[in-house]
Amino acid sequence: MSKLGNLLTGNIQNSQPISLDVYRNTGGFSALKKAVGMDNKDIINEVTKAKLLGRGGAAFPAGKKWEHLNRVSGTPKYIVCNADEGEVGTFKDRLILEKLPYTLIEGIIIAGYTFKAKAGYIYVRGEYWKIQKQLLGILEDLRKAGFLGKNILGTGFDYDIHIVSGAGAYVCGENSALLNSTEGKVGRPRIKPPRLAEVGLFLQPTLVNNTETFTNIPAIITIGGDEYLKIGHPDSGGTKLICISGHTQKRGVFEIPLGKITLRDIIYDPQLGGGIKDGKALKFFHLGGQSGPIGSAELLDTIYSYTDLNNAGLSVGSGAVVVMDQTVSILEYLKCVSEFFIHESCGKCIPCREGNRQLLKLINKLSLPNAASAADLHTMHRLADTLTTASFCGLGQSAANAFITAWKHFKTEFEANVRNNNG
Ligand SMILES: Cc1cc2nc3c(=O)[nH]c(=O)nc-3n(C[C@H](O)[C@H](O)[C@H](O)COP(=O)(O)O)c2cc1C
Ligand code: SF4
Repeated sequence: MSKLGNLLTGNIQNSQPISLDVYRNTGGFSALKKAVGMDNKDIINEVTKAKLLGRGGAAFPAGKKWEHLNRVSGTPKYIVCNADEGEVGTFKDRLILEKLPYTLIEGIIIAGYTFKAKAGYIYVRGEYWKIQKQLLGILEDLRKAGFLGKNILGTGFDYDIHIVSGAGAYVCGENSALLNSTEGKVGRPRIKPPRLAEVGLFLQPTLVNNTETFTNIPAIITIGGDEYLKIGHPDSGGTKLICISGHTQKRGVFEIPLGKITLRDIIYDPQLGGGIKDGKALKFFHLGGQSGPIGSAELLDTIYSYTDLNNAGLSVGSGAVVVMDQTVSILEYLKCVSEFFIHESCGKCIPCREGNRQLLKLINKLSLPNAASAADLHTMHRLADTLTTASFCGLGQSAANAFITAWKHFKTEFEANVRNNNG
């Protein structure tokens, strides 16, 4: 039985160049044509029934977000696609932008039509500059073909999509920082509430969804929310693009049905990771990027679904699956994680700006023989708790996840260098 899904990647035309003609000849834009004949409440209802959870990391139900924006009366409204993809070990939006740009854009046009939005924006990671160029050409073709611009498909609906180049900071992927950056301001998070559905881009009601989330919309409209739900888990429909990297035989982006396979399948199945390289054993895996949880071999039989992973103290996050073999020191790995957060903290709030530095100091101390005390371990936990509960945005709130979860699995490794006298 295949462990792979093909709802999105089945549409990749490997043998043919990406072009509007190929897309149209293979059923492209049929979902948009169907959507413009539907009432906007019915479109939103299909998204809700699909139980599509946001694919950017927070797993917020897309239907709820769309319903909320629909209840907000202010105009104009904006649609924003988050293609910042700054999470470490995550490269699935890149595959979409490169290989499935028309499906993504069709999803963004459907969202625009649903809310009669004024415009859409795709905020693309700065390093993906070649992709940005490709997208600009595609948007131009779509304007000429009548899918963007004035009176789309003769419906009287005017809508265009613009590309914004990301500012090169991880925090700019946080949705409110992303809107500030799009407006040309410093990319720092905003205080919430008000929610972005009420006060978003240019202070107007705004929908922000991840690239993969929008890419699922045409399939949901085509097959309907009920059918889409059946492909996945009862709590979360559809498939998930996962990014396998690290010490597996095979690495890359794979599409899997949610709720149908385990972490063991992901790491060991020949269709997916294919096992650990060079005959070594697995030590741990890190899910959802640097901000996600770390798990070890005893959790391998956990089903890969939002619900099952959460119940096991893990999470899907961005879809990153970073696999490390037996030779990797957990402390050395956590140093890299902490250095990442120190580098990426925007400095706006003290728990994150200072907490990450102090955590790294203590991890460094723990790596030295007899340097750290039991009191240092206690301080690390207090720091982790403060980061999680007192940071202003999701960056600081999730920065200690790796440490907290690694502690559960590798306590003895943390304690190995602690001196005995407790002094
Ligand atoms: C520090 C930080 C970085 C983030 N980076 C991204 C990102 O690169 N791409 C993304 O889609 N979401 C990212 N998010 C999540 C967004 O804030 C937001 O939840 C998401 O774009 C909403 O789309 P979704 O509901 O479709 O997932 C990030 C969040 C935080 C706190
Ligand atoms: S938690 Fe605070 S310092 Fe860290 S990125 Fe968010 S706002 Fe900036």
